[in-house]
Amino acid sequence: MRNKTSIQGSWASRWIFILAATGSAVGLGNIWKFPYITGENGGGAFVLVYLACILLVGIPIMMAEVFIGRRARKNPINALSDVAEESGGSRKWGLIGVMGMLSGVLIFSFYSVVGGWVLHYIKAMLMGDLAGTTSDQAGAAFGALLGDPATLLIWHTIFSIMTIAVVAAGINKGIETATRIMMPILFVLLIILLGYAMSTGGFAEGWNFMFQFDFSKLTWNAALIALGHSFFTLSLGMGTIMAYGSYMTKSASIGKTVLTIGALDTLVALVAGLAIFPIIFSNGMDPAAGPGLMFISLPVAFGQMPFGQLFGTMFFVLIGVAAWTSAISLLEPTVAFLVERFRMKRISASIALGVVVWGLGIACLGSFNFMSDFTLFGKNTFDFLDYITANIMLPLGGILIALFAGWVVKDKFAQDELKLPEGIYKLWNISMKFTAPIAVAVVLYFLINPMQ
Ligand code: PFF
Repeated sequence: MRNKTSIQGSWASRWIFILAATGSAVGLGNIWKFPYITGENGGGAFVLVYLACILLVGIPIMMAEVFIGRRARKNPINALSDVAEESGGSRKWGLIGVMGMLSGVLIFSFYSVVGGWVLHYIKAMLMGDLAGTTSDQAGAAFGALLGDPATLLIWHTIFSIMTIAVVAAGINKGIETATRIMMPILFVLLIILLGYAMSTGGFAEGWNFMFQFDFSKLTWNAALIALGHSFFTLSLGMGTIMAYGSYMTKSASIGKTVLTIGALDTLVALVAGLAIFPIIFSNGMDPAAGPGLMFISLPVAFGQMPFGQLFGTMFFVLIGVAAWTSAISLLEPTVAFLVERFRMKRISASIALGVVVWGLGIACLGSFNFMSDFTLFGKNTFDFLDYITANIMLPLGGILIALFAGWVVKDKFAQDELKLPEGIYKLWNISMKFTAPIAVAVVLYFLINPMQ
């Protein structure tokens, strides 16, 4: 069954894979979502659980996804089926890939709406609309944006078209080059913002908020959100990393590669938190402000710093690029499947899928205005899709991939791909068979049956 390359092509080198996978992992999840869910869940203890989930659950599952994709060199559904068959298992394991594709579609629909907010803020920063803004004014401006469906629709449409265009063009040099240039700049700008945050006087408070582990504030729901976010932020549980792995060179070490991606992703999230919370505290804002946290705090910070208009514009451009490279990866597994299974042209597959996700996105952007009364399980469409994908579908996909890699795939195949030293391989195998599935199952169980 060993194909040398995928029919979609392959990455030029191990570093291109690292770059592409990091481009997928680092996105709105790190800069927008991580700080606001940390704020909503009380800070420190939540951060600790999140770090533990990345290390004990996320990294081992990412290794499994990469090796399954690379072994089969096919889209996630066929990759899972082929690897299962080779080990004497049922081809039905491919169904995990079906749920993954559905997750990608649902995540994209709200991701693109937030991507649209970022585009709107690039324009506002560039025009100097937010110069000298106070926290109240910034809050009002964000509220006004959410209440304006026409503006939201325009930005959501632009973001969707940008994404579909790149997916349609294939794994091209354009996005690889853009990622290579933009990621380091993003990091430099994060450091500048961190420097500003350190000078605000709220830094100690921000630091303590993130790193003082007060377990009395931790609930099962918060643990679930931390676990779900570790999947979301590493792009796991839905086949994205499997699809990217299928384009990876055979000679590269999976362990080292995955550790690098995990470390970069975690670093960006922590630095984003350390940059945002001091601004929140020094301006007397609420850390539990929810999804608007970044869109309210950053304009205040940039509105006050020298050259704020320039830095602010650049910063939102880079968040936009980070969101863009992640959004591309949300669609890639399904497009690869449509091309391989139905022999569709990449461009037709991308447009067909694009129309579906764009339409679903309209329901998400309506959650803040014309559809605000429509709820599912007490949540508006935007929150509902965010909740079920990140907290249920991705962890479930992750459990199944872990069980598959641990119990179904023959040891000799896994070892052949991973090439880990004996002791590390054992740890990885235990994580697949027990640690990762049990951790996810326990958290899901207590969420459904809360302790009194
Ligand atoms: N990892 C991305 C982020 O943190 O923004 C989001 C994401 C991309 C999730 C791709 C899942 C995925 F497959």
